[in-house]
Amino acid sequence: MSSLFNLGKVQWNCSYFVCLQRAVFGLMIVRLVMESALTARDRVGVQDFVLLENYNSEAAFIENLRRRFRENLIYTYIGSVLVSVNPYKELEIYSKQQMERYRGVSFYEISPHIYALSDNTYRAMRTERKDQCILISGESGAGKTEASKKILLYYAVTCPTNDHMAILGDRLLQSNPVLEAFGNAKTLRNDNSSRFGKYMDVQFDFRGTPVGGHILNYLLEKSRVVHQNHGERNFHIFYQLLDGGDDDLLITLDLERNPQNYRYLVKGNCPRVSSISDKNNWKVVMKALPVIGFTEEEVQKLLNIIASVLHLGNTQFGEGEEGDTYITTETQTSNLAKLLGVDGSALREALTHKKLTAKGEEMISPLNYEQAVSARDALAKAVYGRTFTWLVEKINQSLALKEEIYHSSKDSSVIGLLDIYGFEVLQQNSFEQFCINYCNEKLQQLFIELTLRSEQEEYETEGIAWETVQYFDNKIICDLIEEKHKGIISILDEECLRPGETCDVSFLEKLEDTVGSHPHFITHKLANGKTRRVVSREEFRLLHYAGEVNYNVNGFLDKNNDLLNRNLKEVMCQSDNQILSHCFRREEVIDQKRPEMAATQFKNSLMKLMEILMSKEPSYVRCIKPNDAKQPGRFDEVLVRHQVKYLGLMENLRVRRAGFAYRRRFEAFLQRYKPLCPETWPNWHGRLVDGVSTLVNHLGYKAEEYKLGRSKIFIRFPKTLFTTEDALEAKKPEIALTLQTSWRGYRERAKYQRIRRAVIVIQSGWRGMKARRRAKRRRQAAELIRRFIKGFIYRHEEYCPENEYFLDHVRYSFLKNLRQNLPKSVLDKSWPTPPPSLVEASEHLRRLHMRNMVIKYCRRVQPEWKKQMMQKVVASEIFKDQKDSYPLSVGRLFLDSRLEREQINLKVIQTLGSDKVQYGVSVIKYDRRGFKPRPRQLLLTNTFAVLVDRTKIKQRIDYAALRGISVGSLSDGMFVLHMPTEDNKQKGDAVLHCSHVIEVVTKLAMMANKTSYVNINPGSIRFTVARGKEGIIDFIRGSELKVAKGKRGHLLVVSQRLF
Ligand SMILES: Nc1ncnc2c1ncn2[C@@H]1O[C@H](COP(=O)(O)OP(=O)(O)OP(=O)(O)O)[C@@H](O)[C@H]1O
Ligand SMILES: [Mg+2]
Repeated sequence: MSSLFNLGKVQWNCSYFVCLQRAVFGLMIVRLVMESALTARDRVGVQDFVLLENYNSEAAFIENLRRRFRENLIYTYIGSVLVSVNPYKELEIYSKQQMERYRGVSFYEISPHIYALSDNTYRAMRTERKDQCILISGESGAGKTEASKKILLYYAVTCPTNDHMAILGDRLLQSNPVLEAFGNAKTLRNDNSSRFGKYMDVQFDFRGTPVGGHILNYLLEKSRVVHQNHGERNFHIFYQLLDGGDDDLLITLDLERNPQNYRYLVKGNCPRVSSISDKNNWKVVMKALPVIGFTEEEVQKLLNIIASVLHLGNTQFGEGEEGDTYITTETQTSNLAKLLGVDGSALREALTHKKLTAKGEEMISPLNYEQAVSARDALAKAVYGRTFTWLVEKINQSLALKEEIYHSSKDSSVIGLLDIYGFEVLQQNSFEQFCINYCNEKLQQLFIELTLRSEQEEYETEGIAWETVQYFDNKIICDLIEEKHKGIISILDEECLRPGETCDVSFLEKLEDTVGSHPHFITHKLANGKTRRVVSREEFRLLHYAGEVNYNVNGFLDKNNDLLNRNLKEVMCQSDNQILSHCFRREEVIDQKRPEMAATQFKNSLMKLMEILMSKEPSYVRCIKPNDAKQPGRFDEVLVRHQVKYLGLMENLRVRRAGFAYRRRFEAFLQRYKPLCPETWPNWHGRLVDGVSTLVNHLGYKAEEYKLGRSKIFIRFPKTLFTTEDALEAKKPEIALTLQTSWRGYRERAKYQRIRRAVIVIQSGWRGMKARRRAKRRRQAAELIRRFIKGFIYRHEEYCPENEYFLDHVRYSFLKNLRQNLPKSVLDKSWPTPPPSLVEASEHLRRLHMRNMVIKYCRRVQPEWKKQMMQKVVASEIFKDQKDSYPLSVGRLFLDSRLEREQINLKVIQTLGSDKVQYGVSVIKYDRRGFKPRPRQLLLTNTFAVLVDRTKIKQRIDYAALRGISVGSLSDGMFVLHMPTEDNKQKGDAVLHCSHVIEVVTKLAMMANKTSYVNINPGSIRFTVARGKEGIIDFIRGSELKVAKGKRGHLLVVSQRLF
């Protein structure tokens, strides 16, 4: 496995920072990125220790930590390892906005942060599809648990999720307060110290959504249940219950609120802690329990157990006379039995007696006082310890939402979080500290394995010669503790199992015998004078990688045995509390095989943990505690130096810096810096190593400044890289311009192509549509023409499909045309010629139209006009086509009279009497003989007409006697009124001339009702002169009207030629 150096450069006047993308342990690619996102404050000191000028100096290292700590910059990198200093105060750096800032951003682009590490691990998991783990180490109170909570929160907030998975996220987060309540306690070092080790797997599906979780717990410090050092407390849950539980609950559990009343809570003499609100935390826990799937009944049972432990602590014994023991707190025990769900007398019996099996026979023997006390405490520890394990199982059930996926899915990946107790050195160190520190040795070994060694191995793999950096390999200490048969744990087990009298001191002696010569092991007996003073007779000292620790052997055997009397186990098996019956299995009592010793169990679980961790890609958070007083802003240099030392941070840094400050895979290096060399820009086509070689030659690297490995270039000094980076920076505007130009060109081309394609699509669409329309129109037209022609051919046939269109069309056209050209007046005789098929209809229409016009016309006609018309009709009947002057008369209206009333002599009127003059006109009368013209008035009454010479009526013509009226056919105004010859009173026919001849004759004929008596004579008119004589009037056409006596005594009338 390989790891890469990460280097950067802080320049106060320059805004960039050389950095390497996460590349811990092989395969990952390093990237250099600008540090533009960093603020000036972020740049206090160096944010990556690799950049320290004086990287060998511990003082410089600590000074950098201090400077940053003073500015509340608690995070600093050593390459990809995150160093975190506990600020002991709330910092404004964990908000949602901060999470967003770090999301998807490269490791070094912004200031170091736990979120950067979390995000990087998450992305590495997703991109490389490899399980990851984050190992959080540091001493008690350094901030491991807080860090793990921040990581969990980051995933819960930033990872993609859905409703279902949001529940899981909630459970993951809510499991923390529950586990902390039951597994954390106030110690001298930490008010919220985790008294168990925790490894939590968060499982993600292929989309990166958290889908499940699983917790492994390690060695709960059970001894705390029965004993606490001064200033320390029991597990939080006891105090939370007493402080937060409501009165009813406490009554049910038979508890009192004051913790001082419980012997298991008074040992440390520290019932309250100012930084902890037990009441609030109780509420949090009670809220969290249902979230992680606890039923009300389960919560009740759980509280029963917690209460029973307190009652157990208050169970007191008295000593009988024969050395036997009895319980002095009877009522308390009854309540205790109730809470435990067991039979009271059986419990009492089991607390004061032990069951032995000798030679197949069961014997019961009483316990002495000490034995009874220790049996009671063992029961309390067992009950609490096993309940805790049950709690973890229960949480696991709730987190394992997708159990089947968790075990089988190939697409899911895991991020493991290890928050395990830190290295611990107390005044009195016992079995627990031994286990805890052994665990830390193992973790350090893993760290060495995965970082320091792999770093050096990389040089080997790449074939780079370099000087090995010495670091302390703690394998020797691990072996001292865990080696089979020879290790401390094996010896302890052996001592526990050995028949005969064994005790803690005999164990110490055995140790001296077996590992006495080990360089990391010292006892009082083995020590030289100076050391002897600090190692008591009951202690052995181990020289851990992190420092020297004295362990007091008292209680080692018991704690390793972790024995619970068989009869107590039997009682517990029968509990009707489901949690307890689950924790104490009947098989355990029946099974004769001895269970594994505690230390061995712990060793084995650690082995498994190492396997788990080794199978994953690790990231490290190294937590440092700045002071022992839990105070913000205080930086205790001695304390920090000690931690820097035992966390191996200097070694870590030295290894990173010792060989080559920077390395990068050829392709990545070439990719970044190729613009700096004309031969490699824009692309290098040869072998990568040649490309890199050409590039560095062009850049003027000296031989001692760099080395080319098999797949990577190694650069010795950060300065070389910074110079290269400066050159790249200077080159950037040029590259940017080139990129800009090509990009713009590309973009515009693409845009143009897009538009062009779109235009073509629209164009072809439009053209297609147009063509289709045209084709359709043509088709329709052709069809029309075809039908038209066919129709034309068949036009004379009966109406049939062949000619229907044509005929319809012809009809339609005719009717349409007709509509526009209908005659407007009754005189207009025009009418469009109909097609053959419409002749009849046309005729009907014509008649209808005419009738309609006539009706309309008639409706409009006034009586006057009617009279006029009637006269005109009569005139037409008489004269039409008979007389030349007739057409001229048609347009001239007939007047009611041509004489004004005044023009008629009054005497004449009087003579006429009652016969009213209906019409009067001036005429010329020609004498019958000489044809002398004489002016006369012709007056018509209803029954006769008179010829008047001024005052005298010259002739009366009764209509009844009127024989006829003759008129010439030419244009003259001559007319003759034929009188009967036998009437002597008459002087013969009257020969008259009137310029209104047609009007006069018409009116006269109408009044006399003798229209048929009118004769129109062409050529001449014969008339009677008195007494049978006849006269003739000849008509000829001439240039002007003339009436004169002709040659043969005829009256010659020359009529003006009209046409
Ligand atoms: N990032 C932080 N911001 C603010 N306070 C912190 C931070 N980290 C730790 N602390 C404070 O330090 C205390 C101890 O931290 P934490 O419990 O995480 O230590 P630990 O390393 O888990 O110790 P132990 O090994 O005893 O469990 C916390 O209760 C909290 O008050
Ligand atoms: Mg902790």
